Amino acid sequence: MLKVGLMGYGKAGQAVARVLAEDPRYELCWVFRHRACAETTVEGHPHIPVRSMQSTDLDQWLNDHPVDAVVDFSNAEAVRWYGEQIKVRQIMLVTAISSYSDAQLDDLKTLGKATRVLCSPNITLGINFLLMAAKLLRGIAPFADVEVVEQHFREKPEVSGTAQKLAQSLNLEDEKVTSLRVGGIVGHHEVIFGFPHQTVRLIHDSIRREAFGTGAAYALQELSHCSTGFYTFDDLLLSSIRAQLLRESASDLPTGGQTAASSSR
Ligand SMILES: NC(=O)c1ccc[n+]([C@@H]2O[C@H](COP(=O)([O-])OP(=O)(O)OC[C@H]3O[C@@H](n4cnc5c(N)ncnc54)[C@H](OP(=O)(O)O)[C@@H]3O)[C@@H](O)[C@H]2O)c1
Repeated sequence: MLKVGLMGYGKAGQAVARVLAEDPRYELCWVFRHRACAETTVEGHPHIPVRSMQSTDLDQWLNDHPVDAVVDFSNAEAVRWYGEQIKVRQIMLVTAISSYSDAQLDDLKTLGKATRVLCSPNITLGINFLLMAAKLLRGIAPFADVEVVEQHFREKPEVSGTAQKLAQSLNLEDEKVTSLRVGGIVGHHEVIFGFPHQTVRLIHDSIRREAFGTGAAYALQELSHCSTGFYTFDDLLLSSIRAQLLRESASDLPTGGQTAASSSR
């Protein structure tokens, strides 16, 4: 079982802690938040301590509470506090921080020379799959009309970052993105491919923040099979898809090991 430590216990961190604490593949050993706080535990899990970064000696803490992996849902600055420790101890890192500067990203890539690092500004498995599927279909059918529709709660002011990323990766003009602001929708993204005789819609709906935890758990599992290096979510997803396709094509082989092409000759 992989021992995991979590940085960040805000809105996302609390949801991620709930998912990791319930996942039998992982042992969530501890959680850090930033500000000085009374010693507490993860809600519903009295054996998982929540501590303050400001009042803990990390070196000593890791000697007493060793982990194989750290998951970061705190702040872009936090890696300065723990980076050296995970480097010397070769602890895997899954960081979901979406606001790293270019210099901080360069530092993370350097860290990837010493240990396994996954950095993903969007760690939801479903959204990453949607992005990849949309890119594939765009490549297969470049003649199709493509539009992106995103829907969010009434108060969200800007076009969603995910919709912008979808448009960018599909090479679409800004006006191909339609934003609707209605009621309390958590997050809806839809890519519509219009063909002359058919329509394909790829849709993702966010339901709860726990989806970030599902993505982090997937990243931990995939990263644990990787060698030292710096990875994106796309790297992990592509390698899972490739492995699955290879397994499927191997099981499709006719008995005797002949391929469909060679057996029809
Ligand atoms: N990749 C994704 O898909 C994804 C999804 C959701 C969130 N995120 C990222 O996760 C992070 C947290 O989001 P959130 O919505 O949970 O924010 P939040 O509710 O504000 O929580 C932030 C957490 O980080 C801690 N923190 C604040 N400043 C810090 C610092 N300088 N050093 C270390 N820790 C610090 C806070 O400590 P206290 O508890 O003591 O205040 C808190 O636990 C953000 O960077 C966000 O971009 C990424």
